Amino acid sequence: MLIDHWPLVGLRLTTPDLELRWPTNEELAALADIAAEGIHDPAFMPFLFPWTDTTPAERARSVILHFWRTAGNWKPDDWAIPFVVFQGDEPIGIQAINAAQFAITREVSTGSWLGLRFHGQGFGTQMRAAVLTLAFEGLGAETACSGAMMGNAQSLGVSRKIGYHEDGLGRAVVSGKLRIEQRLRIDAKDFQSPCRVLVKGLDPCLKDFGL
Ligand SMILES: CC(C)(COP(=O)(O)OP(=O)(O)OC[C@H]1O[C@@H](n2cnc3c(N)ncnc32)[C@H](O)[C@@H]1OP(=O)(O)O)[C@@H](O)C(=O)NCCC(=O)NCCS
Repeated sequence: MLIDHWPLVGLRLTTPDLELRWPTNEELAALADIAAEGIHDPAFMPFLFPWTDTTPAERARSVILHFWRTAGNWKPDDWAIPFVVFQGDEPIGIQAINAAQFAITREVSTGSWLGLRFHGQGFGTQMRAAVLTLAFEGLGAETACSGAMMGNAQSLGVSRKIGYHEDGLGRAVVSGKLRIEQRLRIDAKDFQSPCRVLVKGLDPCLKDFGL
């Protein structure tokens, strides 16, 4: 069975409204449909790499290809999980968490998106809390970083609610234009999850996280 070779398919994070887990290919296709409907106001690009600035069909395909590519590039000392976020049976977005040389750095980074019609209902906060609980309580992370473009009130709102502090500004070129990124950080000692989070299926995966 797949889980015998790839235990990450059994890793599940549960919050009051959501489940974060590995998808089947058909669930990935359903998530691609959600991406095709739209992820953000096209007038405001929230991502450093502007992957959403294309046709709905290409945006959908890039969700699938990005997931497979990320899984295929897995290394215990350089990993990234693009958790698919489910509300019931419906995939609604991605909450990614990644790290390099985690056993030494004890630092993770996160990034996320939700289909437009799922914004503003507290889901972004729950899914970030879920991966931070995995990182701090499950994996023994000491610190977690994130970042948001100046003006991304929703993403900055999630970070504020969770208790991140500002960690400097970054300058990036996105589609030929200067964008300023607010960097954010939260340390293990300052993290208290805003909601209950259950982590299941972690033990068989520890080796794959380089632990
Ligand atoms: C970022 C994202 C995942 C957040 O998810 P979400 O479910 O919308 O977020 P939540 O509802 O949990 O929380 C958003 C918070 O920001 C606040 N917020 C939203 N717009 C705001 C504004 N204009 N000014 C101030 N606060 C604002 C909300 O009020 C909320 O805080 P509250 O619960 O205290 O009221 C989602 O909006 C998204 O997918 N955006 C597009 C992609 C993106 O920006 N990804 C992040 C790239 S770094």
